[in-house]
This record gives sequence, structure tokens and C-alpha cells, in this order.
Amino acid sequence: MKGIILAGGAGSRLYPLTLVASKQLQPVYDKPMVYYPLTTLIEGGVREICLISTPQDLPRFRQLLGDGSRFGLTIDYREQAKPEGIAQAFLIAESFIGQDAVTLILGDNIFYGGDVFTRAFGEFKGGATIFGYHVHDPERYGVVEFDAAGKAVSIEEKPKLPKSNYAVPGLYIYDNEVVAITKNLKPSARGELEITAVNVEYLRRGALRVQRLPRGFAWLDAGTSSSLHEASAYVQTIEKRAGIKIGCPEEAAFHSRIVSLAQLEAIVGEMPNCEYRSYLETEVVAEAKRLLK
Ligand code: DAU
Repeated sequence: MKGIILAGGAGSRLYPLTLVASKQLQPVYDKPMVYYPLTTLIEGGVREICLISTPQDLPRFRQLLGDGSRFGLTIDYREQAKPEGIAQAFLIAESFIGQDAVTLILGDNIFYGGDVFTRAFGEFKGGATIFGYHVHDPERYGVVEFDAAGKAVSIEEKPKLPKSNYAVPGLYIYDNEVVAITKNLKPSARGELEITAVNVEYLRRGALRVQRLPRGFAWLDAGTSSSLHEASAYVQTIEKRAGIKIGCPEEAAFHSRIVSLAQLEAIVGEMPNCEYRSYLETEVVAEAKRLLK
């Protein structure tokens, strides 16, 4: 399974923060926003990643994440010249996807709690798998309607009158057909290749699986000043309470066994003295050594 992180867009809702750094590089409590979706993919077993952003912001992402080897990954970088829709990612990344299945995650979506995605990646056989999450303001999102048997019957993008409270979060899993489906899409009224149109096509073909995310699972999107602040507060609360970090790709890579203890120690050794380093030293490296004894 290949992975795409879509981290472009105008970021206009966060202006003036986004004048000098894109939304997905902004801090969510103690780390850049993009660390969270990156960690979700690492935990899910994805090892080849394509990060798509604007021509202005791409150099910053390269600076931050490098070639990915620090996290046991390969990371390809591709430009999206203009924000012409989420689904455009599949055209930009066509040669990266090759003949494989692909998961797309939005760079401003933060997920926490359990291994739902890891299992979904592992169980994926074909068609499309997307998710439904109960929210109080579904009109802000893609909205999925279920019938009495729990089967998805419609999906609409930002409907004025939502048919359910289930929003579609920004993590999608597709078979290789997604490239051909996207090529046949027409831009919407707002001039974008809509991800919802891709999902509607899979639904029409009878190849869409919509999995409801359980209660207790957290999905935060950090696209506005308020939601950015709320996401930071959430991460801080959990991290302080539990003494663990959310969205720590080095830790996820180590626990996924794609980075060895020796490699992790070397990576940590290069970090400046900071709280992030001391967390990795004491909670991850020292703990692993203790368990080895
Ligand atoms: O967050 C989940 C929602 O994301 C879904 O429920 C909706 O169906 C989906 O359309 C999308 O809605 P948004 O209104 O949040 O989309 P937005 O235009 O804000 O883009 C989401 C992220 O993708 C954002 O971080 C910027 C990035 N993006 C967006 C577009 C349109 C790009 O990198 N390039 C683009 O062309």
C-alpha cells in the first residue's frame, strides 16, 4: 500500500499564520501538524510515501522530513501548482502509485485512538474504504448516509441539509482504479476535482466500504484558528495525563520495527537538548533497553 500526504492548499483560513509557513507546518502543541498524519501512516504499515504540497512550501517539507530514512520510509515530493482539488493528488502521484493500492491522508487531519486504520489497511482487498465519524456539524464535511442495515447509500459534499451526522474524515483507501476514476472527473462548481466525486463513483459501482469509527476515537481537523487551538489543547491533555506522545513518527517507526534501537539512538543523539529528545531517550530508548534485560 502506497501513501499520499496531501499538504497543499491556500491555507487562507489561517492567515496571517500561513504567510510564511503552510498550515501543515504549523505547530499542534509540540510538533508540526504533518507529524500526526505521517505517524498514522507509519503505524498503519505504509512505507512508501508521496508528500504533495505547493511549490513554495515543498522545500520546507523536505527540510523537515528529508528522504524519510530517519523514519524508515522513502518520501517522494511532488508539487501541486494550484489547489485544484483533493483528488488531483492521484494524477500528480500517478507514477508514484504505479500499479498499487493507495491511501490518501489530508495533512491537517489528526487521528488518535486504536488500530482501526492499521486493520483497514491490512484487510483491504479492493474497491474503496472510507470512514464515517459522528460530528455535530456535518455540513462542513463530506457526509455519508446509511440505510437501516448500516450500508452507505449516499455521499454529499458539504450539504446544506445533511442526511446524517456522519462526516467523512480525510483518510481514504483505494485500489488502483482511483487513477482512472479521477481522470474521468470533471471539476466541480468550485473548480476542484472533488474527493467526494471519487467516493460517489465507487459507491455507484458497488465497491465502496464505509466503516464507522468507534466512539472514543478522536478525529480532529486543524484547519481554522479555533480548531488548531483545540487540537493543541487535546494533544497536550492526553500527553500530560498519559506521559506518552501522540504523533511521534520516530517512536512509531521504532515500534513498527522499521527503525532499529541502534538507529533510533543515533537519530536521538543528533537532536538538540529538548523535551522531544528527552521523551525519546527516557520513554522509548531507555524503556526498550530495560525490556531487553
Ligand atoms: O477534513 C475532511 C474533509 O476534507 C472531507 O470531509 C471533505 O469531504 C473534503 O472535501 C475535505 O473538506 P475541506 O473543506 O476540509 O477541504 P479543504 O479544501 O480545506 O482541503 C483539505 C486539506 O487538503 C487542506 O489541508 C488543504 C489540502 N488541499 C486541498 C485542496 C482542495 C490541497 O493540498 N490541495 C487542494 O487542491
